[in-house]
Amino acid sequence: MTSTQDGSVVIFGSGLIGRSWAMLFASGGFKVKLYDIEQQQITKALEHIRKEMKALEQSGTLKGSLSADQQLALISGCTDIKVAVEGAMYIQECTPENLELKKKVFSQLDLIVDDKVILSSSSSCLLPSKMFMGLKHVKQCIVAHPVNPPYYVPLVELVPHPETAPSTMERTYALMKKIGQSPVKIKKEIDGFILNRLQYAIISEAWRLVDEGLISPSDLDIVMSDGLGMRYAFIGPLETMHLNAEGMSNYCERYSEGMKRVLKSFGPVPDFCGATLENVHQAMCARVPADPAHLGARRQWRDECLMKLAKLKSQMEAE
Ligand code: NAI
Repeated sequence: MTSTQDGSVVIFGSGLIGRSWAMLFASGGFKVKLYDIEQQQITKALEHIRKEMKALEQSGTLKGSLSADQQLALISGCTDIKVAVEGAMYIQECTPENLELKKKVFSQLDLIVDDKVILSSSSSCLLPSKMFMGLKHVKQCIVAHPVNPPYYVPLVELVPHPETAPSTMERTYALMKKIGQSPVKIKKEIDGFILNRLQYAIISEAWRLVDEGLISPSDLDIVMSDGLGMRYAFIGPLETMHLNAEGMSNYCERYSEGMKRVLKSFGPVPDFCGATLENVHQAMCARVPADPAHLGARRQWRDECLMKLAKLKSQMEAE
């Protein structure tokens, strides 16, 4: 049985992503302090976490081996930054995606943390060199970028600052594994990290194909959800190549000329506006009207699908 772990974790910002991180760390047996500048945000987050953990426990999908009550007992709220940080071994920053705000937050933390704690940001796209510039504790800083919703999608991109100590990367990697996430090490910072670079390549070609009138927006989405996406939930694009021929070398021998020909025919970066935007927007609204109730219901359905997929993946990996 997972027992409680030594050392506490601070979640700095208790919005959408902060709440999810808090649940993940509690599922791994860590004591979690949920910090925010708004007491109301903490109260809301604690209530939300309580409801979600109870529902997950009832449906048999609560992570970790502690009960919901045991996990809930590990999480507490805090609005005093010094009290929150005291004795922490890991701080996961989850404030809004704004460079000036994050720089301010990390400079505040830099003044009060010890030489051991890891300072990690959830940033989706801010470069570590910009966020952590000039900090005294820069060796202890890293980006750990989760994917929404982190409780069901385990990937975490670990992105170092040029001065991040190798031990910071290794300790963060080990911690992510311990709470059941799937970390990847990005060797050097790059705009968009890796997930968004891949995602934008797909969005860009999808947009051009619809723009050129080659396929409808809803059929384009089916190509991914009933085609490529089916296998990508289990194997990546490189292993797909390996399996789709007699190994990778054979795939390149057979298909590289065709791939290069098609890739050279790709158009420029789309503007994402005008008539194509109108066309795509209408098609998406026909499926899911863009009001909070319909969008919320569809997101909930998506999260249920992801939860079931996560279950299937762990069963398949155990076989
Ligand atoms: P959010 O807006 O839901 O939550 C932000 C929280 O930070 C709020 O509770 C707010 O009160 C608090 N906050 C604001 N200023 C603060 C300060 N100075 N000190 C402490 N707390 C403060 O934002 P969300 O969506 O949770 O995003 C947080 C981070 O996670 C962002 O960097 C975002 O890019 C990243 N992220 C978001 C994803 C998403 O899909 N929402 C996915 C992956 C990463």
